Amino acid sequence: MHFLSFTHIVFIQLALPAVLHGAKWTYSGPEGEHHWPKHYPYCGGSFQSPIDIKSELLRFDPTLRPIEIQNYNLSPTEQLTLGNNGHSVQISLPSKMYISSLPHRYTAAQLHFHWGSSSRPAGSEHMVNSRQYAAEMHVVHFNSDKYPNMSMAVDKSDGLAVLGVLIEVGEFNPAFEHFLRFINGIKYRDQRVQVPGFNIRALLPARLDEYFRYDGSLTTPPCYPSVLWTLFRNHVTISRKQFLALSTTLYSTHAQDSAPMPLNGNFRKLQLTDSRVVLVSFKEGRGLQGTLTVTSPLTRKQIVQQLLVGDLADLADEGLYKLLPSGSEKLHAGKKKDLKNQQTVAKSKQQMLSPSLWKKSQTNRSVGKLWLAEDALCYVSLEHRVFHQLKQSHAENQLVQALRDVTFPELNLKSYLDCKSDLALPTIRHLLRGRPTDEAFELDRSLTKALMNKKHITPAIKKSVPVTNYGGFSPATVSRKPHSQGYPHPWLLPMEWED
Ligand SMILES: *[C@@H]1O[C@H](CO)[C@@H](O)[C@H](O)[C@H]1NC(C)=O
Ligand SMILES: *[C@@H]1O[C@H](CO)[C@@H](O)[C@H](O)[C@H]1NC(C)=O
Ligand SMILES: [Zn+2]
Repeated sequence: MHFLSFTHIVFIQLALPAVLHGAKWTYSGPEGEHHWPKHYPYCGGSFQSPIDIKSELLRFDPTLRPIEIQNYNLSPTEQLTLGNNGHSVQISLPSKMYISSLPHRYTAAQLHFHWGSSSRPAGSEHMVNSRQYAAEMHVVHFNSDKYPNMSMAVDKSDGLAVLGVLIEVGEFNPAFEHFLRFINGIKYRDQRVQVPGFNIRALLPARLDEYFRYDGSLTTPPCYPSVLWTLFRNHVTISRKQFLALSTTLYSTHAQDSAPMPLNGNFRKLQLTDSRVVLVSFKEGRGLQGTLTVTSPLTRKQIVQQLLVGDLADLADEGLYKLLPSGSEKLHAGKKKDLKNQQTVAKSKQQMLSPSLWKKSQTNRSVGKLWLAEDALCYVSLEHRVFHQLKQSHAENQLVQALRDVTFPELNLKSYLDCKSDLALPTIRHLLRGRPTDEAFELDRSLTKALMNKKHITPAIKKSVPVTNYGGFSPATVSRKPHSQGYPHPWLLPMEWED
């Protein structure tokens, strides 16, 4: 995902201090992606893209409709701008093109590509079950119901929707010739040519009803977490010759530059999944047996409500296993006799919380109101506010990590309530902070004890996961470890098995 278009560069230079300081960015070298967060803090923040779409992250969502697009069939009399912006090749799209199947109208702005190199034809950004494809196309749309243009939408949590298409080398693809035949005219950075319009739909796979959906970010600076991602399940192909045209023709440097740099390998590395789940619109086919179905909104709210106002001592004694990752139930098998049949716990469609756990949930405490407010948190405004607060007290090198630690729980909760992630431990702690100490302490102790017994936490994983200390809990580092048994880091067991 790459949103800089030629017209938006002006806005960025006015709005972003990073660019005022002349921050450029590349995919490797001293300005490479490890250094992006220095000038673009969101690149080190939460809910980043791309991710590896693994089976265990998938949740079938029966409400996901086929993608519907309007006015994608452009006439040859309409001129499109094909350009090289130094990071990608990009085609501007007319504003009559839009997605009509999402809750808002998302108007098309541009499409662009990410690709590997001739020696390594693997350059997609997203991976599916750790498989990287040769290239990936992003068709970028902005929420035109709510925002007047791309610039205003780009940093809003509901600002962008991107259609992602995985590209493999194989059959020749005539649709790609509509722009590849002009690519010699844009060899160098900032060059652009006008090309006749064509049917943009032909660049997409045949089936628009099968896709992966998750909440993520721009994959290039400034990495705003503002993208509703739709990655089509089925890839398209281009011929080897077409792939070579894309990967060997262009330069990331200007024509007059004495040290020309080839433009290839322009993909970002995989990002942490941050407890996110990936919704799928389909459930047939290889590897999808046992795919969980999304939790009902009611159940999600009940769980949060229980954390907010329920009896935590009860939760610690009886319901603890529900807060732990899959497999942890075994630790408490001795305590809970009805857990004999471990494997079927997740299969049962029983009420998540027993009546006894609910007896004290009926009390109405104001803390619940705060968290269950219907207003959507805006990722960016939240990160922005926290960033400036932290700036007072943190050195620059601690800032990005601190930003993650502080904002992640709130983003995770919002995402959980929207059914876009599992509830992670830092978030549970965050919720518990407002609780009476003795109750929280009880749960704290049980959680800590259970976590101590938890194995398979590799140092590498530990290092990459931010540790936030909310009160007395420790250790804090389990949520992103994939579990060999069951499904990954479901802190709760809110999912139902599909039969
Ligand atoms: C986008 O819209 C805003 C608000 O109407 C306006 O101030 C700004 O100039 C527009 N930007 C572009 C690039 O058109
Ligand atoms: C909870 O309290 C709020 C005001 O503090 C009130 O509007 C709401 O109706 C109450 N809900 C219940 C279930 O008592
Ligand atoms: Zn992109």
